[in-house]
Amino acid sequence: MKIDVVTVFPEYLAPLDLSLIGRARERGLLDLNVHDLRRWTHDVHHSVDGAPAGGGAGMVMKPQPWGECLDELVPGEEKPRLLVTSPAGRPFTQAMAHELAAEPWLMFACGRYEGIDQRVVEYASESMEVTEVSIGDYVLFGGEVAVLAIVEAVARLVPGVLGNAASLDDESHNAGLLEAPAYTRPAEWRGHEVPPVLLSGDHGKVDRWRREQALLRTARARPDLLERLDPGSLDKRDRVL
Ligand code: ADE
Repeated sequence: MKIDVVTVFPEYLAPLDLSLIGRARERGLLDLNVHDLRRWTHDVHHSVDGAPAGGGAGMVMKPQPWGECLDELVPGEEKPRLLVTSPAGRPFTQAMAHELAAEPWLMFACGRYEGIDQRVVEYASESMEVTEVSIGDYVLFGGEVAVLAIVEAVARLVPGVLGNAASLDDESHNAGLLEAPAYTRPAEWRGHEVPPVLLSGDHGKVDRWRREQALLRTARARPDLLERLDPGSLDKRDRVL
């Protein structure tokens, strides 16, 4: 998968060199490049923003550097899926992560300040699929942290990136439920025990316990998810509901 990230703070994306994402890049599974938007400015101050049309607080990112950036990074017939990070975007979910993991080329435009001049989205939409995307109902200084979160969620779904694909199976959000709590050795720690069923060796019992814990946890932390659960995904033994 090819990923381009355009930002005025390339250093913010340094964590993409680390850990499993860094390894996936070394192994050629991800062709990830970070670009400094100021490369497409022409004034001595490399300015990328201007006062908002119509007045108001803050600054808006000018369309000109973004236009030239798109012209250079997307020169041919092949187009990326463009993701513009914004608190006003579509909520990012695990379902969207799966959708994006199937794309051959993603390009991220990191908004800063009061966002990017909306004509950049309008213009790009004439030739490529553009999605404004939010990672949650809160406001960050800019989209860089949102890109880190989205790239990590997407990259781990790209075949080969995660060592053990089985761990993708029943993780939180995959079946619309949160994952059951996890434990490791020692069996007893500071007076707290690993639930004995997990040490019983009975896989059927372990599966049932995990299912009940997932339902309980979801009911407590995310009742909204339970309401949206597909009734067909319920087992007759699911009594916590
Ligand atoms: N930029 C600022 N806040 C954001 C958010 N919540 N999601 C995505 N991009 C953002």
